[in-house]
Amino acid sequence: MAVILIPLLVICITARIGYVSSRAVEPQPNLELPLSWHGIKEDSSWRHHKRQPEPEPQTVSGGLSLSSAAPTSTTAAASPTPSSSSIPVSLQPIPTVPSAPPTLPTPFPQTFDAGIAQNFSSISCSNFFANMTNSAPYRSCRPFSVLLENSAAFINAQSNLTLMNSIIWGTCNTTLGLSQCEANMDWFTDALQTACTEELKDNNAMTVATLKALQAFSIMYDVACQVDPTSNTYCYLNAVSNSNPVDSYYYALPLGIPVPSSAVPTCSTCSKSVMGVYSAALENSTEASQLSGLQETYEATAKLTVQYCGASFATTGLGSSAMSSLMRPSWMVTGSLAIFASVLLGSAL
Ligand SMILES: *[C@@H]1O[C@H](CO)[C@@H](O)[C@H](O)[C@H]1NC(C)=O
Ligand SMILES: *[C@@H]1O[C@H](CO)[C@@H](O)[C@H](O)[C@H]1NC(C)=O
Ligand SMILES: *[C@@H]1O[C@H](CO)[C@@H](O)[C@H](O)[C@H]1NC(C)=O
Ligand SMILES: *[C@@H]1O[C@H](CO)[C@@H](O)[C@H](O)[C@H]1NC(C)=O
Ligand SMILES: *[C@@H]1O[C@H](CO)[C@@H](O)[C@H](O)[C@H]1NC(C)=O
Repeated sequence: MAVILIPLLVICITARIGYVSSRAVEPQPNLELPLSWHGIKEDSSWRHHKRQPEPEPQTVSGGLSLSSAAPTSTTAAASPTPSSSSIPVSLQPIPTVPSAPPTLPTPFPQTFDAGIAQNFSSISCSNFFANMTNSAPYRSCRPFSVLLENSAAFINAQSNLTLMNSIIWGTCNTTLGLSQCEANMDWFTDALQTACTEELKDNNAMTVATLKALQAFSIMYDVACQVDPTSNTYCYLNAVSNSNPVDSYYYALPLGIPVPSSAVPTCSTCSKSVMGVYSAALENSTEASQLSGLQETYEATAKLTVQYCGASFATTGLGSSAMSSLMRPSWMVTGSLAIFASVLLGSAL
């Protein structure tokens, strides 16, 4: 084990020095962003290191896994988890957008593949989730928004850029087509709110998160399918391959997860265009009213982005509810996000 661990740690620290030169003496936890999505759904069990059936997320960018960065031990460095087979994503070449349909993984990653938390108050909501996740009109739309939030296969694929490239292509090119999928997701969004009224009233974490993700289907499709024209790569692949996790956060704003205020944005052209997609949606009141997660997170992230990248990078003043939402303690704040943000504070500043 040590034979694998020590070189990995050396790679990790070396890579980190490039980013955090001022604090290069300390091994900094370099978090793989997607672990935070795990944290969100696993919540307290995750905090107590009781994560199990899901495959251990790889430390793709040569860092420490988030599970070693529990709230009480943000000094980390204790238990790095070696990635099982692949080289760190930051060392993998970023594949270009496929010019012909690539071979998609079979089965394609599905949402809730690690199971649905059975914490429902009503039979109707429980039935709704069972129905939705088994129905072709939902599955064949491959919703990036729900995959990012809740799919073990999708999260694991982030350690393999070739595979991730095919998956992103697959979410952008479905047989049903975008407009049919938008109609389907609108239907599921409405059906959820009918079937799960009790759960939404009780602020059931999984139900609330799924509603935000379903509402965000269309806008997250747009950002997931953005291409960086200079490299002809998916912007999302650029973000995943970056050993600095901050760019990846931009894709999760519509899920109600902001870029942590302690993070230092990279000012990439991709994050600029992603922010542009969001501001365009928020400027349309019809769309904005449906994007509750984005409403909560946009303004703070836009301000942070402008602070580091300049006024041309993002439009501020769009999310009127932003500040009050961010102040409100939510399930997200009490869950992994606060921990993740505090760890990032340690590593990014
Ligand atoms: C789930 O599907 C079953 C069978 O198709 C149907 O009877 C039931 O009403 C559906 N439930 C929900 C919540 O959509
Ligand atoms: C990455 O994914 C590709 C395509 O699915 C596969 O051929 C390759 O073996 C994978 N690499 C690793 C290291 O798992
Ligand atoms: C895949 O989807 C993108 C838009 O998301 C489109 O530009 C491209 O032409 C599609 N490719 C194929 C082969 O359908
Ligand atoms: C289950 O839901 C109830 C209310 O919706 C909540 O109080 C409780 O903490 C939840 N339990 C878990 C394990 O999520
Ligand atoms: C606002 O969004 C709605 C729904 O997507 C769309 O039909 C409408 O054309 C948009 N309005 C403007 C001014 O872009």
